[in-house]
Amino acid sequence: MKVATDKKAGFECRAVESARADFPILKTEMNGHPLVFLDSAASSQKPRAVIEAINDYYTTQNANVHRGVYTLSQQTTDLFEESRRAVARFINAPSEKEVIFVRGATEGINLVAQSYGRAFLNAGDEIILSELEHHSNIVPWQILAEEKNLSLKIIPVRDDGSLDMDAYQKLLSSKTALVAVNHISNALGTINPVEEITKLAKESDAAVLIDGAQASIHGSINVADLGADFYVFSGHKMLGPTGIGVLWGREEILEAMPPWHGGGEMIESVSFEKTTYNELPFKFEAGTPHIEGVVGLKKAIDYLNQFDPAEIVQWEKELLNYCTEKLTAIPGLRIIGTTPDKTSVVSFLVEGTHPYDLGIILDKLGIAVRTGHHCTQPLMERFGIPGTVRASMALYNNKEDIDRLAKGVEKARNMLV
Ligand code: ALA
Repeated sequence: MKVATDKKAGFECRAVESARADFPILKTEMNGHPLVFLDSAASSQKPRAVIEAINDYYTTQNANVHRGVYTLSQQTTDLFEESRRAVARFINAPSEKEVIFVRGATEGINLVAQSYGRAFLNAGDEIILSELEHHSNIVPWQILAEEKNLSLKIIPVRDDGSLDMDAYQKLLSSKTALVAVNHISNALGTINPVEEITKLAKESDAAVLIDGAQASIHGSINVADLGADFYVFSGHKMLGPTGIGVLWGREEILEAMPPWHGGGEMIESVSFEKTTYNELPFKFEAGTPHIEGVVGLKKAIDYLNQFDPAEIVQWEKELLNYCTEKLTAIPGLRIIGTTPDKTSVVSFLVEGTHPYDLGIILDKLGIAVRTGHHCTQPLMERFGIPGTVRASMALYNNKEDIDRLAKGVEKARNMLV
């Protein structure tokens, strides 16, 4: 195995190019062709280490957590809480109490809307979102706004897919109670200036939630430096299992927030007269948690930690540039989202073809891409398009994948136009 030295950290890291061999699914065939997987923004593939950790968990470790006096349950609880510490280290959270396990980024946002939003936002308050948001960072706020008579203000997107920061500054006012934006756009790959967005929001005393669903696989996250109040992400988009994700929140805000889901584990004591609640993070974790998911998420973090995050970013940038160059050479192909501040996502349209038709032909060639509105209908409307074809790459992709994509798109174009 090739190793590269991460001089800054002073330890040796694995070379990113060696990652591909760890993903068994990338050796399989689809429709008679070797699989080319270019839909990591929808859900990433899993390395063998994560798959085996889940198998091992059920083979040797399975028991409920925080409930049993017997050894197996205590060992499982230790494993579960060690995973929480691993998440805290991964995002540089000041305390593991700030790490709440949820089903995914969507549930994290809904938790904040329903707990923080209902308790602390008042009629007339404004919530700022952006045109780049996924439906999961729009609809929970619309539900809350309707219930509490709040209004939503939307940061417009420029033609290159970047946020209009001048317009953002104009939207901020003493009425702004909360700003919720994504770190990276799932549809276009735009990397938003979340530090600046947060800093400006804080000058207006607004709370800030960052949707990191697309960011956690692409390098390092540092919630302590960011200065936001909430950060959410999903395990399945960062090499881990589905159904598990994280809400990180600042301790004093989480302390002040009322619980959202009621049930076992989130209580201190229950009587019909009065129930008192558990301490953080358990106050927000009602019911038996997704233990297998938490174990798998820890393995995914361990796996990512083998690589220098800067090298992951560099490799994905190389893939992005190569893909952009190859696709741009195809007549009639237009890329939506051309800002230089973007990650390895290429959303495109080919003149005279519908994204679905392109996607279906690519599938027949063994190439998996996402087509459609990518759960960002307002963004598609902004660009006046029904949807795009989206190729999204992760650390396990290579240039051959992109060559196959470019050839496939050319072939599809010749068939359709
Ligand atoms: N949010 C996921 C995507 O962008 C499902 O495809």
